[in-house]
Amino acid sequence: MHRTFTRLLTFRSRRRSLLIYVLLSILCTAFIFLTLNHNKQIDKLTIDKLFTTSTLLSKIYPVTHEILPLNKSSTTINVKNSDTLWPLDSLGRSLKTHFIAIDWTGFFGSQAAEGERVFCESSNTTFLWTRNQQQISTCDFIIAHDAQSTPVSQLEISEKKQQYSMVFVMESEVHSSTGNGWASFKFKMTYNLDDSYPEAATYFDMNVHLVDLLHPIIVDFDQKEKSADVVWIISNCAAHNGREGFVQRLMTEMKVDSYGACMKNREGYSGRMAENVEAYRRYKFVIAIENSNCNDYITEKLVKSVASGSIPIVAGRDGKPDYRRYMPKHSFINVFDYSSIKALADDLKRIGSDRQLYESYLWYRKHNKTVDDIRKLPLNEKIKHFEEVVGKNQTMLAQNGIVAKEKSENKVCKLIRFVRETPWKEIAEHNSTGRAGANTACLPSRSILSHFDIK
Ligand SMILES: *[C@@H]1O[C@H](CO)[C@@H](O)[C@H](O)[C@H]1NC(C)=O
Ligand SMILES: *[C@@H]1O[C@H](CO)[C@@H](O)[C@H](O)[C@H]1NC(C)=O
Ligand SMILES: *[C@@H]1O[C@H](CO)[C@@H](O)[C@H](O)[C@H]1NC(C)=O
Ligand SMILES: *[C@@H]1O[C@H](CO)[C@@H](O)[C@H](O)[C@H]1NC(C)=O
Ligand SMILES: *[C@@H]1O[C@H](CO)[C@@H](O)[C@H](O)[C@H]1NC(C)=O
Repeated sequence: MHRTFTRLLTFRSRRRSLLIYVLLSILCTAFIFLTLNHNKQIDKLTIDKLFTTSTLLSKIYPVTHEILPLNKSSTTINVKNSDTLWPLDSLGRSLKTHFIAIDWTGFFGSQAAEGERVFCESSNTTFLWTRNQQQISTCDFIIAHDAQSTPVSQLEISEKKQQYSMVFVMESEVHSSTGNGWASFKFKMTYNLDDSYPEAATYFDMNVHLVDLLHPIIVDFDQKEKSADVVWIISNCAAHNGREGFVQRLMTEMKVDSYGACMKNREGYSGRMAENVEAYRRYKFVIAIENSNCNDYITEKLVKSVASGSIPIVAGRDGKPDYRRYMPKHSFINVFDYSSIKALADDLKRIGSDRQLYESYLWYRKHNKTVDDIRKLPLNEKIKHFEEVVGKNQTMLAQNGIVAKEKSENKVCKLIRFVRETPWKEIAEHNSTGRAGANTACLPSRSILSHFDIK
């Protein structure tokens, strides 16, 4: 491209070439921008459904909240009173009952509504969302999406003032920032169950996930779709782990109905999540493989297939990710457990043609409890019922499992609970760490293809 421009400059009038050069540059930039944006759009799609404007995580973990009318003066606190703004108990734990959180970056184009007040049930406190960066000297938390440049050094953590920064992300390490930039934030909250402080913030609302797991079989074996046993609805057809190449090969061994933009062979359902559950429900198996295989990176794809009541087909190896931390044993098919696509297809056909065998993968849905009653219970009661059904000896119920790690409340409410329970000095002394890179956190690119030796 460079040579073309050089030639243009040599052979044509300087002014005209310059104009052409400028026009081409604009076109090139626009093209690159569109391409980048388009790729981003693909993974954004599903996430947008979860996090529509203004509520950030309060959508996925519903909290009682009211939208207050925009009133900047009511959110500005008189700095002269700062002595009383950060009250502590004798151990140095926060006694505040009302907090201010600045949504510093917004989140995929959405942002907190100015003046939105959120009630945190776990600590009987409230906090206020603001986008007003001028409030940095009086805020309690700065919330950033992905480790972008955020003036965390302007925050003060002392006996007088306890201001904290938090960074979160919903995308895997291959699609978001990693590295030491993350260490400049006090709190790092991601789907990673072990590498989050003070707590993980995952795609799972346990109030929903546990009830979905306990829900009795939704579509009877005999009522399942006859055209194919397996469904796949994906729009991103260039996944890091090469899942589309794998599905393409699986399609040569058995019928797979694909409704999404990637390798579509049936009409009827779009890539929209709400519709996915409807489609998923009708099939025996749902391909719920993520776009990359990383530590704990498990998204709404699994959540939705569990909600559908069908058996998820997943991909995880060497704990990247470990589905047992999220699901009861014998409840999913892991493609890495098979040495060839044919062996996998044969097993799917075998399970899909035998009601008893098929339902053995749904064993946790067979109990005498009434799910609609359990749905109304607080989370700790739900967990007890779940334990009674699946038994305590489950990885997902162990110390490192999702049940212990995900408290299923608004991220800021998690922080408030923590700062009210933890002496500020202990938090101040906590050494934040960066976020592991994709090479450490994830399987190499195209790992599903290389597992099956697909070129
Ligand atoms: C804004 O808040 C202040 C202080 O709480 C209050 O006195 C005032 O009436 C509010 N203004 C509006 C327009 O709501
Ligand atoms: C919650 O806090 C309010 C005051 O902010 C108080 O009146 C109420 O009793 C508290 N509720 C509980 C359950 O502690
Ligand atoms: C449910 O109740 C029936 C009848 O009381 C009993 O036969 C069955 O074993 C129970 N099932 C489970 C899973 O407890
Ligand atoms: C608990 O699970 C582990 C691993 O799945 C197994 O080795 C062990 O035998 C189980 N213990 C009981 C009491 O079922
Ligand atoms: C944090 O790091 C410093 C310096 O490396 C070390 O002295 C301190 O003990 C660490 N604090 C904690 C809580 O690990």
